[in-house]
Amino acid sequence: MAMAPTAPMRVVVIGHGAREQALAWAFCRSGWQVWAVQPNPGMALVATALPHAGSTAASLAQACRAVAAQLVVFGPEAPLVAGAGDELRRAGLTVLGPGAAAAQLEGSKVFAKLWMRRHRLPTAEFAVFDQPDAALAWARGCDRPPVVKADGLAGGKGVCVPADLAQCQAALEDLLVHRSLGVAGERVVLEERLEGSEVSAMALVGDGHFVLLPPVRDHKRAGEGDTGPQTGGMGAVAPALAPGVQGDIARRWQAVADTIFAPAAAALQRDGLDYRGVLYAGLMITAQGPKILEFNVRLGDPEAQALLPLLGDGFAPLAARAARGELTRSEVLPIPTQFSTAVVVAAAGYPGASGGGEVVEGLALPELVAPGGQTLVFQGGTIQGPDGQTLSRGGRIATAVGIAASAEAATALAYERARQIRLSGGWFRRDIGRA
Ligand code: AMP
Ligand code: GLY
Repeated sequence: MAMAPTAPMRVVVIGHGAREQALAWAFCRSGWQVWAVQPNPGMALVATALPHAGSTAASLAQACRAVAAQLVVFGPEAPLVAGAGDELRRAGLTVLGPGAAAAQLEGSKVFAKLWMRRHRLPTAEFAVFDQPDAALAWARGCDRPPVVKADGLAGGKGVCVPADLAQCQAALEDLLVHRSLGVAGERVVLEERLEGSEVSAMALVGDGHFVLLPPVRDHKRAGEGDTGPQTGGMGAVAPALAPGVQGDIARRWQAVADTIFAPAAAALQRDGLDYRGVLYAGLMITAQGPKILEFNVRLGDPEAQALLPLLGDGFAPLAARAARGELTRSEVLPIPTQFSTAVVVAAAGYPGASGGGEVVEGLALPELVAPGGQTLVFQGGTIQGPDGQTLSRGGRIATAVGIAASAEAATALAYERARQIRLSGGWFRRDIGRA
């Protein structure tokens, strides 16, 4: 007897950068029907524009219900911090993304640090200040100048790792006296400087259980050799835990699950925070073990672009189970046997003001295929021009991803594809996967 065809599941992806195209792509390849709010031209290949989404959480909820969405996935943090997750859940929708109370883990560094201290999660020593004199006195008592962090969301510009006490003092004065970040810098965290290598740890969390995704290394600085200004992220490699370390990743990653995510998921539950979403811990692997630098409440960008292609059909069903509260145990996903490298192509001027309006070429070329490997392009700051061309919106324009059986082959493919993406003044780091 012929089986009746089952209708595809329906998901709305919120956000329209390269991370969100990677999310839309992952759901699409798992057979889901995908909607997106004002999709960029790349997302539009795999997602339908959601009609009448409006600009408020209430209108968004109504638009999601109108297409009978079975899942809503948030890419960026800002709407979650503003409470859109709560509003959509109140409207009866199933949401991957925490409510406003738990989103404070990303929205307020003061909240996050006090929460970590209260639950004894491994993190750097710290103190909170709103007065520059008291802050400077504390900084003078440290062995090394402490890291200065603005409390609120600052688009990656809220952290200063000072080379000396004078830089530390200048950062404090900028925030607390000159109010360079407004209310986001009204309070600061001063934090012990940690040494080690950084890794992005992301887990799907639901009702006290978690699924830890494989490790990704992000390259946050604009300049080669991790120098220059902080950006949203200029490239990522996966699976990767620390430079040069490939052996033993599975055992070391299990330790991250045991010492970071198990206590964090339990602490969220104890506090009644009902977390259903992605929990991202930026970690420093120190000589004393992994320590938490920051929490985010969403996937990293460009970490998602590197990671999701390695997870195949695995991500969508797990994300749906986390959002529905159907995770029944905690687990660590196996370390993938393939490798990926993600190279971000940015507009001239990024991470500063970076204009827009230039024609971007090479996005729609056929993807490269090599023995055991392939490329993918996820678009970010792009928009459809009036004559059918793709135009830049500034910022991070696209992410070129190489996937292959070795890290070296993945990196070579990613760069071959990144070089095909052309816009006036466009640039990318040359050392992703090589540093
Ligand atoms: P955050 O937004 O808190 O992750 O900080 C941004 C970047 O600043 C991190 O990716 C690190 O490179 C650096 N950083 C933050 N906190 C520390 C710390 N305690 N010690 C050393 N570097 C840090
Ligand atoms: N790539 C770092 C972040 O998404 O926060």
